[in-house]
Amino acid sequence: MNLKPETLLRIDEAITHYPVKRSATLPLLHLIQEDIGHIPDEAIEWVAAKLELQPINVYEVVTFYPMFKRKPIGRRHIKVCRTLSCALMGGYKVCDTFKKEFGVELDEVTPDGGTTIEFVECLASCGTAPVVMIDDDLHENVTPEKARELAAQIKAGTAVRK
Ligand code: FES
Repeated sequence: MNLKPETLLRIDEAITHYPVKRSATLPLLHLIQEDIGHIPDEAIEWVAAKLELQPINVYEVVTFYPMFKRKPIGRRHIKVCRTLSCALMGGYKVCDTFKKEFGVELDEVTPDGGTTIEFVECLASCGTAPVVMIDDDLHENVTPEKARELAAQIKAGTAVRK
């Protein structure tokens, strides 16, 4: 595993927060994904060894939670909500717009490694549907026109405005 030194320090520190090493599984996986962008097999084995678990114990956690990615995703991550409120308010059209703008299907990475689009479950902002998260920022009441504007900002490498 080729983790940054600061990630290794944060991992060792995180383990001290729990009376049982196993309880640090989720924090360690978050730290690794934050560092290298996804959770490869090697990371599962590494975490298992670090926490004195079997790899299957870590694998079942990684595959249960959709926020953990098993393969690399783009540097920019667009998450379009597909749950009921957003679906009724046009979330599928918004998602199609992003796919068309970037020329990729869901969960693919654009050829430049820049962007991945994902359809996700409720983002807890149903009253402002349809909603989209770009990286860690929530965008509300997103229309196809707004999606085109956001895509243009991402392609231009400018800050994405809400
Ligand atoms: S249904 Fe989309 S945020 Fe809840």
